[in-house]
Amino acid sequence: MVAMALDAAGTTTLAGHEVPRLGYGTMRLTGPHVYGPPADPDEARRVLRRAVELGVRAIDTAWYYGPDVANELVAEALHPYPEDLVLVTKLGGARRPDASWIAALRPEELRAGAERDLRLLKVEQVPVAHLRWMPGAPVDFTETLDAMTALVDDGLIGAVGLSNVDAGQLELALGRTPVACVSNAYGLLDRTSEDVVQRCAAAGIPFLPFFPLGATPGGASAVATDERLDDLTARTGATRTQLALAWLLQHSPALLPIPGTSSVAHLEENLAAADLRLDADVVAELDALATAG
Ligand SMILES: NC(=O)c1ccc[n+]([C@@H]2O[C@H](COP(=O)([O-])OP(=O)(O)OC[C@H]3O[C@@H](n4cnc5c(N)ncnc54)[C@H](OP(=O)(O)O)[C@@H]3O)[C@@H](O)[C@H]2O)c1
Repeated sequence: MVAMALDAAGTTTLAGHEVPRLGYGTMRLTGPHVYGPPADPDEARRVLRRAVELGVRAIDTAWYYGPDVANELVAEALHPYPEDLVLVTKLGGARRPDASWIAALRPEELRAGAERDLRLLKVEQVPVAHLRWMPGAPVDFTETLDAMTALVDDGLIGAVGLSNVDAGQLELALGRTPVACVSNAYGLLDRTSEDVVQRCAAAGIPFLPFFPLGATPGGASAVATDERLDDLTARTGATRTQLALAWLLQHSPALLPIPGTSSVAHLEENLAAADLRLDADVVAELDALATAG
């Protein structure tokens, strides 16, 4: 059953589950640089509970946010989970103690990550895990894909998604194994992955844009500070982030944005984008704002 508040954005099928097309990403629930605990863990738990209360049923997370911090907060705030909540994790990354990001894409690393997700999230199976590709990693893409399929076969994960892949990798994967979803950086300001979005739409695969508000791993939202949007905010009554999310929702039925935030106020503002309908002239102006891709 789909909760009511996000109905206006429509639903999509994610790994066999019907979910509203606006989700939530947990990366902002940690300390600075996605490392360590947040300044206000109570607010982090409130954000997660409010997201579910408002109808979010797709939550993107990863054991390496924190590390462990984001997943622990998810379990503290939401376990036992609503039956229709789809937790989506990522395997393939890891962290050094200096907070830098490294690849962990070898089959045994992917399996260890999946086992860590199960323990932290307190589930017997993670519904979807993205294979988070790291360009330049000393591993073969098809070998990592097969390692993910083995995790499905062994019941640790319910389905395989792909993250940070190009169109060629997506095509290769589609010929080899079922692909539940794709998650690349994509949004109003960065359309570099447009070809992957369109391929997902053609194949009926949800695309979960990360950085949908134009953030960077260590930085704030570029959308939230983009003054080029101010004429449109005045004309529509929507905020900058709402315009960016509404644009995504109207741009392609494949898109299921997963905006991140550490604040209930921002969460509520962002999820209200589900109710916005942008006129064609507004969409055309937003179409022209891309700074990449
Ligand atoms: N697959 C991957 O490799 C990958 C990579 C990166 C991220 N992700 C996922 O994608 C999710 C989304 O990406 P993201 O969180 O990094 O970036 P984002 O959604 O583009 O932007 C998040 C940033 O925007 C700010 N923000 C949110 N709502 C706002 C509002 N209404 N007004 C002003 N500022 C606002 C947040 O600050 P506040 O906390 O102050 O609201 C935060 O700094 C992540 O949480 C993560 O789950 C996946």
